[in-house]
Amino acid sequence: MKRLIITIIASLFYLLTSAQTQLERLDNSTARIVVNGKPMLMIGGELGNSSASTPQDVKHAFAHLHKMGLNTVLAPVSWELIEPQEGQFDMSSLDVILTEARRNDLKVVLLWFGAWKNSMSCYAPEWFKRDTKRFPRAHTREGKPVEEASSLSRNVLEADKRAFCKVMEHLRDHDATEQTVIMMQVENEIGMIEVPRDYSADATQMYQSSVPQLLTDYLKRHQKSLHPYLKEKLQPKAKDGASWSELFSDDIYTEEIFQTWTYATYVEQIAKAGRAIYDLPMYVNVALDSRGRKPGEYPSGGPLAHLIDLWHCGAPSIDVLAVDIYDKDIRSWLSKYHLHNNPLFVPEIRLEDKDAMYALYAFGHHDAMGFCPFSIEDYPIYTDLRDNDMSGMDLSQDDQLNIFSAGGSVLSPLAASYQLLRQAEPLIIDRQGTKDMDAVLLDNEQREAEIITPDGIRLTIKHSYSLGWEPGANDAEWPEAACIILRLGEEDYLVIGSGVVITYTDAKGGKTWEKGDARIGLAKCESVYISEDNLHIKRHLNGDQTHQGRHVRIPAGVFDIQHFRLYRY
Ligand code: DGJ
Repeated sequence: MKRLIITIIASLFYLLTSAQTQLERLDNSTARIVVNGKPMLMIGGELGNSSASTPQDVKHAFAHLHKMGLNTVLAPVSWELIEPQEGQFDMSSLDVILTEARRNDLKVVLLWFGAWKNSMSCYAPEWFKRDTKRFPRAHTREGKPVEEASSLSRNVLEADKRAFCKVMEHLRDHDATEQTVIMMQVENEIGMIEVPRDYSADATQMYQSSVPQLLTDYLKRHQKSLHPYLKEKLQPKAKDGASWSELFSDDIYTEEIFQTWTYATYVEQIAKAGRAIYDLPMYVNVALDSRGRKPGEYPSGGPLAHLIDLWHCGAPSIDVLAVDIYDKDIRSWLSKYHLHNNPLFVPEIRLEDKDAMYALYAFGHHDAMGFCPFSIEDYPIYTDLRDNDMSGMDLSQDDQLNIFSAGGSVLSPLAASYQLLRQAEPLIIDRQGTKDMDAVLLDNEQREAEIITPDGIRLTIKHSYSLGWEPGANDAEWPEAACIILRLGEEDYLVIGSGVVITYTDAKGGKTWEKGDARIGLAKCESVYISEDNLHIKRHLNGDQTHQGRHVRIPAGVFDIQHFRLYRY
């Protein structure tokens, strides 16, 4: 009875509070999370799968992440831990996450490791795993059952949904005021592995039947904006009531489309039921179809970019298709998932120092909602420089002093980059979706890029090694460099990043001056830190630091924010 009263009061409170965490869309390709009425960027990281499975691990990891400067942690909530016996729920693992997140000033995105985690059903409780009669598995062509629950089974869905809903009830009852949890991931890297689709009798029967009208109507209504892949796949001569292979042709790619539909409509029922209890933004994450693999070699039917229309139609309660990146060529993966109808969110990316640069690029160029390297608890906050010769590192005396007083260490690249992003967060948020923000990512292959600002100025941004002044400039491989450019006012900018040198010309002309072109000079440059939207000068930069006004530069290895004003003459 007492529990019931508490639940009713909590539900009423939840209904009456208007400042619910939500996803705010600036347009269909740009969105952000708004908590207590305040938009935020998820400057975050995802925990390794087993790193937060005990209270002591959570305590340790969250304290570390707080020190590293994150504002958001992505943490799994595991079905097997919250429902160890069928119908008996134990939310203590979730409570530890809430308590430690609050203690460490972190927001949380919960990952629902329910019926599937990376295609497999390994996080389902033992009672579920053992009862294959009630909770059937998917099958290969040969009829072999795989450790992947059937996406067509009502029993699987109901069991998974009930547990997920218990989590949402718990959050509603225990987190509606604090709003520690700001988003939910439904399942994890869903997708059929080994084969492109489930070949069980039920699945095959559905595959041979008409494509559901919900989908065919959607395809007609959205004809113009469909992903080019799906447009191409549609058979123009298919009649009403066509089967999957008639509508999309008979191949493994159509089997993938079918499998996608079963996952999307399944996920919709989980997400919809959860949101009816406690309406948090929700997303699904994708394992990529990279390296020339075919459906089934990669998890078939996941929330892949080329299948976005099936997910939009089948799972309207899902806000974002989010990309997990463990492959090379980050630029192309980010563009593939920052679409006219999908904002960019990177809930996982391989943990490496380069993420420091990728994060700047994702937030500055792609208006990312969040950026979260995987297994973030393993990342060191400091890099030990004691054994390095600092003389060639182009560090100011102050920097050297700071390193010395910190026992010979500097902030590791990702921690340094996150520190800048946290400072600039409100300024970035104000410029999301506008032309007053852009970013570049430079590397060994692409050593130069340009940004044309709304003031008609061309900023040519090169890798700082291109000057030949810094140690490493003669190395064959140049490390990644990146910066965000924020426009503060007329011809007035911030550069946030590392390893870049910026020159400025009139965008009307070419890169070199010709008669009639205005010349652009550096009026003022200073290294700054930002607090509460205000710039505070750390150092005035001129002379050698700006090459007597010819450029603005943040050397490689240094993470800085510089404020610079240009003028015409
Ligand atoms: C992607 C998954 O989503 C993560 O949970 C993890 O398994 C990583 N791959 C790799 O370790």
